[in-house]
Amino acid sequence: MKKSVVTISFALLANCSALFGLNIVVSNANISEQVAECVAVIVEDSSSLSERLQPLADTYFSELSTVLAHRKFTGKDGSLLTLTGSKDGRIVDLVFAGVGAPVAGVVSVERYRRALGRIVRTIESSPYKTVLLITPDAALCGLDQESFAQETAQILHMASYQFNEFITDKQRKVQVPETVVVMSTSTSVQAEQAAADRGALIGRGINTCRYWVDMPPSNATPQHVARYATEMAGKCGLAVKVFDEQDVIQMGMGGLAGVSAGSDEDCKFVVLEYHCGDAAAPTIAFVGKGITFDAGGLCIKPAAGMETMKCDMAGAAAVIASMQIIGQLKPTINVIGLTPLSENLLGGKAFKPGDVLRFYNGKTAEIKNTDAEGRLVLADALAYAVKNYKLDAVIDLATLTGACSMALGPFFAGMMSQHEELAGRVQESSKRTGDRVWPLPLDNDYKAALRSSVADMANAGSSEYKAGAIVAAWFLQPFVADVPWVHLDIAPVAFRAPGVPYCRPDNATGAGVRLLVDLAMHWQ
Ligand code: BES
Ligand code: ZN
Ligand code: ZN
Repeated sequence: MKKSVVTISFALLANCSALFGLNIVVSNANISEQVAECVAVIVEDSSSLSERLQPLADTYFSELSTVLAHRKFTGKDGSLLTLTGSKDGRIVDLVFAGVGAPVAGVVSVERYRRALGRIVRTIESSPYKTVLLITPDAALCGLDQESFAQETAQILHMASYQFNEFITDKQRKVQVPETVVVMSTSTSVQAEQAAADRGALIGRGINTCRYWVDMPPSNATPQHVARYATEMAGKCGLAVKVFDEQDVIQMGMGGLAGVSAGSDEDCKFVVLEYHCGDAAAPTIAFVGKGITFDAGGLCIKPAAGMETMKCDMAGAAAVIASMQIIGQLKPTINVIGLTPLSENLLGGKAFKPGDVLRFYNGKTAEIKNTDAEGRLVLADALAYAVKNYKLDAVIDLATLTGACSMALGPFFAGMMSQHEELAGRVQESSKRTGDRVWPLPLDNDYKAALRSSVADMANAGSSEYKAGAIVAAWFLQPFVADVPWVHLDIAPVAFRAPGVPYCRPDNATGAGVRLLVDLAMHWQ
């Protein structure tokens, strides 16, 4: 196959500073003993602010409480203030972010995450070597100290991410501090450090997911993504199988092969396995849509915004990144990650409206719209998963429908399931991690939208049913048999989250990774 001339050279993750830089150290030494060029402080809105900040004032800025009052800074949610203090004759920048007043003693973790994000946005313009971070008590967010330390490290990494692989102007690259020292008042610093290390590992994994989604589509081809997954598997103790286009055709995966037919790039089907060492332990599968570029096929998309369709492999990227993290955190269950990878283009051999495709489980679908391709590749991957593994649950993630984005806007993924218990688990993980999902009704009434006169189903619903996100979920249902299943439509949230300071408004979000990892870690 001819190599694309558009693939400009790039290093597999080599230059992404947010993936490798940023050391996070937990310390319970006194403020006055620390050396840093910047001190960042997160505070709740409270009348006793100046008391709480007294040790800081004593060390860096004796007039602190007068100046904070003068600048009317009380710690309101969303607030940010930078001042300049000094210690031993050296200038020290002071950055304050507020999380607002607690309700019944508690402030939501999301407010804390965003305050941390605002701090990183502020300090990234300065080349600090060491930043001291003073946080509120874990209890303010209703967390134990270890979960709080993990959350802190994870968000510091997420907020530090920038996709700068192809930016040659060094001035435009963000400055990630070498070290952030997280101040702790507890005596169990070691346990907090271990939790912070786990958070950093998850944060880096999320940034890996984002990196692949942000990567130009002629670089993040099925072949390149599969190669990354293979190399990663070797490092993270996962088993890996990569099926190429010939294998896919031979195995009868007509959905994946059909979508790939219009592209010169071969499709790949990657299966990653994490084994906990107990074959009798529960086994769950994550399936991620991996359309590395979705031009819509012959039912071509409009030009405006088509460049964002490089994000159409965000489900696959989330699954691969989650497996990378799971391989290192080693939960006590078995986890299988499956990603069908393909382009959806318009070559001379492209599949056509009116074609009928046959899937891995023998079922057939009439193609009404070649732009409804995600469900076709997922159908094969889901059927493969339930046939080849004894599964306790399957969760698929897919940038599946524009309809879901229209319904929910950029802050919630759509969650569709008829399995209350599994949906409940997913919702718990969602609430714990801030990877937000919202249920849409997977009611039987919508099923009839997919009736076809020539095949088992049509791949696009008839227009009077509307509800494109739910109809797409119904297309997937025959491929999961009777395994408990949750479908997450991440089209709303995978790319470009406005106003969330630990994401970048023009980039991938890493949606789904926090949720999948939490689900695996809390399964038993
Ligand atoms: N990849 C798109 C869905 C999408 C939209 C992802 C916006 C991310 C952001 C998907 O393959 C698609 O085109 N779906 C069609 C389905 C329709 C033809 C039934 C859609 O949503 O319009
Ligand atoms: Zn499409
Ligand atoms: Zn798509």
